[in-house]
Amino acid sequence: MIDPILGFSKLSKQEKIDWVAEQYTQNPAQTKKLLKRYWNIESKVQKLHDEFIENTITNYYLPLGIAPNYLINGKLYAIPMAIEESSVVAAASKAAKFWFDRGGFKAEVIGTEKIGQVHFMYDGDPDHLENFFREVKPKLFEDAKPLTTNMEKRGGGVTQIELRNKTSQLEGYYQLHCTFETLDAMGANFINSCLEQFADTFKREAQEHILFTKKEKQIEVVMSILSNYVPNCLVRAEVSCPIEELKLNEQITPEECAKKMIRAIHIADVEPHRAVTHNKGIMNGIDAVVLATGNDFRAVEAGVHAFAAKDGHYKSLTHASIDNGVFKFWIEIPLALGTVGGLTTLHPLVGLALEILHKPTAEELMKIVAVAGLAQNFAAVSSLVTTGIQEGHMKMHLLNILNQLGATDQEKTVIVDHFKSHTVTHSAVVAIFNKLRGK
Ligand code: MEV
Repeated sequence: MIDPILGFSKLSKQEKIDWVAEQYTQNPAQTKKLLKRYWNIESKVQKLHDEFIENTITNYYLPLGIAPNYLINGKLYAIPMAIEESSVVAAASKAAKFWFDRGGFKAEVIGTEKIGQVHFMYDGDPDHLENFFREVKPKLFEDAKPLTTNMEKRGGGVTQIELRNKTSQLEGYYQLHCTFETLDAMGANFINSCLEQFADTFKREAQEHILFTKKEKQIEVVMSILSNYVPNCLVRAEVSCPIEELKLNEQITPEECAKKMIRAIHIADVEPHRAVTHNKGIMNGIDAVVLATGNDFRAVEAGVHAFAAKDGHYKSLTHASIDNGVFKFWIEIPLALGTVGGLTTLHPLVGLALEILHKPTAEELMKIVAVAGLAQNFAAVSSLVTTGIQEGHMKMHLLNILNQLGATDQEKTVIVDHFKSHTVTHSAVVAIFNKLRGK
């Protein structure tokens, strides 16, 4: 039985490691060695990492790969992707090359509006609240000036504050629904600071409002927080080609392939079990770039999935059509991203990823990320409706299996060569590995 620990955060890093290793692992000496192996003590990186979060004991590495040959609006990109899944970067590279030869990707930002809300309870006459809101609104903007001036100088700021009556859904519930333009910043801190200021002003002024009854003056602010659902922070990416150019392999005609792709998307539109997996494939591409560029992938995930369900049931985020002999494939997704602030200046690899992407603005990054999602989905669905996914997946997974078996470099070379002309299955890999070792 392990006792709870008080004041863990006050322990030194070594003490924390000793405690975790001794209390929770079978071989503390080995645990301590393992944790230290992932330290980066020669540079300032370790100190940075230690200070990103509380109670850091080591670093958790993911591979950073590059998917080259992305032609987006006529500009060539090599896209950095941080991800552990074997086939994702390979699929991204393959899709990039396929569309490079067909004119590349087109992408446009449809909107950049961010949202935050002050959620509050009010027990009184809704008309009194409306009147109060109209009166206090200029004061909300004015009190937030110290927070908004810099953003306004650059062309952003608070774009609107609305009072919303939500009492039909929850008794006494209202909101200040606020919209923001945060330019190249993801803007979470800016938005949350503004909202907390709005809440303070709103509560304070309510107590002074002469038309409110005593009860009406007691507005209860429940919380003030940005929303990760940003349907108007929207980007669209697209590829298209004459159907006859949709030649993916010898077994299937381009016409059949186009039809099957469209059918696969229709299935994802009507069947949530498929839609979730279909969209998961899109997020393979999106999360990998979001993570490599130091953005908040949990925020993106939450917002994207809510968007996929916006019509009342969960659907595909990608769409496809055939019009006048042209196959078109596109995605529209909300992406609240930043290329300044946060990790972008702190994490050296994030800085490098942004440099590789030609130091994009937030809008440019939205386009790149949407393209990565579209390309990933194209790669997955085009494999699914032709050869099936396992052929490519297992080829990429081969090295993982060999590493699990403890194969030497020499053994890996022989076995990888063998599977160039054979189907990879776990048992086939084990069999040839055992044979090589004379087992
Ligand atoms: C695996 O990570 C992603 C796929 O399942 C996506 C899909 O089914 O469309 C291959």
